[in-house]
Amino acid sequence: MGDEFITYGKPHYSSNEISSVVQCFQNGWLGTGPKVKEFEDAFTEYKGVKFARAVNSCTAALHLSLLALGVGPGDEVITTPMTFCATINSIIHCGATPVLVDIDPGTGNMNLLAIEAAITSKTKCIMPVHFAGLPCDMIWLMKIARKYKLAVVEDCAHAIESEIDGRKAGTFGDVGCHSFYSTKNLSTGEGGMITTNNEDIANFITKASLHGMSKDAWKRFTSKGYAQYDVEFAGFKYNMMDIQAALGIEQLKKIDINWRKRQEVWEKYKTDLKGLDIILPPETKENQTHAYHLFYIRFSGNSKCKSRDELLDELTNMGVGVGIHYPSVTDLSFYRHTLGWDDNTCPIATKFGREVLSLSITPYLSLDQQNKICTSLKRAVF
Ligand SMILES: Cc1ncc(COP(=O)(O)O)c(C=O)c1O
Repeated sequence: MGDEFITYGKPHYSSNEISSVVQCFQNGWLGTGPKVKEFEDAFTEYKGVKFARAVNSCTAALHLSLLALGVGPGDEVITTPMTFCATINSIIHCGATPVLVDIDPGTGNMNLLAIEAAITSKTKCIMPVHFAGLPCDMIWLMKIARKYKLAVVEDCAHAIESEIDGRKAGTFGDVGCHSFYSTKNLSTGEGGMITTNNEDIANFITKASLHGMSKDAWKRFTSKGYAQYDVEFAGFKYNMMDIQAALGIEQLKKIDINWRKRQEVWEKYKTDLKGLDIILPPETKENQTHAYHLFYIRFSGNSKCKSRDELLDELTNMGVGVGIHYPSVTDLSFYRHTLGWDDNTCPIATKFGREVLSLSITPYLSLDQQNKICTSLKRAVF
């Protein structure tokens, strides 16, 4: 086995991405400009949606989407505990209250059958997360949302390629929010994209991501002379840069190739790791396309390794970088103190979050690296 440490989720940029970034320097336009527009147009087409708006993170996308839908103080937003803290923080930043529905342990996704019981007169929105890239049943979820007249924001941080019945995740709800963080399936270092079929929402996002200004910088400094602007409301500084979009445009061209490569790694792991004292990720249903974002296992300890945390240390010592996606948000101290969440709030997610561990599944892992990951895991738990 090679001695080199395998960094978890290491992104890969080729000469195409590098040339595309260099072009920004040559054009003299680094901030929000023509590359961002090109990336938005390409993403619109890829997703089969009317509008895509680029921002500087998925967190920003979630925050602006909730604001666009009128979520504010006194409102409740139903979401899942098996997510990154960004999902919860975006709700809190609107002044609203996150209300958790426990997960289905088989999929890691929010248990849709439990949603109705969580709806109150204050509920304004449902925010599902397509955990690991396995899509939630959006057909079912949208039926509940329509019945109770609730908005839906899909957290698609893991779900760029995910589909249900051939339709892309992020096109079912009012809004879909995507992440291009370094370890994501499409990486711009940091970045995010909002998809929607609603023109008013798209227009709001454009302005809200740049201080609520009536004209963005790209449109202000043209050969026609400086265009004056107005501020229509107090917005945010959430805009994406052309340098990021330059990476995104090239990464999007490779999205299907990279998806197929990750699928191969996924299948190899599933075959090689069969029979171990661990729980492997669930199968994908026929009408679903998995984005293969996180290959997670669940491990609750055995005679070889006492706990998930011991396994994490063991793998790290063997040169295999792993991730934890995620501790249940009910286990995080800020939410425990402020929202009163505890082990009993969502017991299934709490247990899941203490057992879960992600193995690297990037498209450019060599066969040697894949073998090293599987062999190390086998040695650690068997
Ligand atoms: C489920 C989920 N939602 C939101 C985010 C936030 O994404 P970003 O880092 O682009 O803000 C992440 C990032 O890991 C995530 O996993």
